[in-house]
Amino acid sequence: MSIHKEIKRITTHTLQEMKDRGEKIAMLTSYDFSMATIVDDAGIDVILVGDSASNVMAGHETTLPITLDQMIYHAASVVRAVKRALVVVDLPFGTYQGNSKEALNSAIRIMKESGAHAVKLEGGAEVRESIERIVTAGIPVMGHLGLTPQSIYKFGTYTVRAKEEAEAEKLKSDGIALQEAGCFSIVLEKIPAKLAAEVSKTLQVPTIGIGAGSACDGQVLVINDMIGLTKGFRPRFLRQYLDLYTEINGAVQSYIRDVKAVDFPNEKEQY
Ligand code: KIV
Repeated sequence: MSIHKEIKRITTHTLQEMKDRGEKIAMLTSYDFSMATIVDDAGIDVILVGDSASNVMAGHETTLPITLDQMIYHAASVVRAVKRALVVVDLPFGTYQGNSKEALNSAIRIMKESGAHAVKLEGGAEVRESIERIVTAGIPVMGHLGLTPQSIYKFGTYTVRAKEEAEAEKLKSDGIALQEAGCFSIVLEKIPAKLAAEVSKTLQVPTIGIGAGSACDGQVLVINDMIGLTKGFRPRFLRQYLDLYTEINGAVQSYIRDVKAVDFPNEKEQY
């Protein structure tokens, strides 16, 4: 008999049970092995390998340039670290919008080549057929409504979405369409808290908010923003728990000083 306590993995069913009993879901992004190890060990419920990797890892202005191969590389690194959390991977721009067969092939590649547990894609009723086809193949799908960064050139700005009634109504019916298509959860990004509360109450599946208020069934943040690695990014919805930019900058300056002063390495730090 093993002396190690078996770790109970989070599944899509666990998330549904959490919503049903009113327990909030905590989700964060990760893109590499080291960070995912820390985040998983800390007890996060869901790790999103977001296409925000395009911004925070690769330095692109938008999420559009990241490729399926690059997402699979990040996802496989995260999966190797994770023992408990559910790992969800973004389908990147251009890998699912064409048709449902292309969407299914992209989702299959992510599942097969990274070992992740679910995929996420952006959009409402217009991606319904793709969601249905992916779900039918046995792959769990998370939806994403509100501010959908892959459509940034259509929106023109990253400001709050669905403030007007017509867009709010469309978002509500999109939420129902995604749930009917089989999504196990839906991200609501940057929409009024009141609207997010209404959607979260109406839908049976859990909603995960980012800039969408406290009534969502869970919350997600980009880890680099949340620990203050992203220089100068302080939107209103972000709670920054650390200032790692300043910490790391200071450590690097100390290291440079020590090397120049021949203080590092000292007697004990050499062979
Ligand atoms: O790519 C990402 O990090 C996301 C979250 C902001 C929800 O989609």
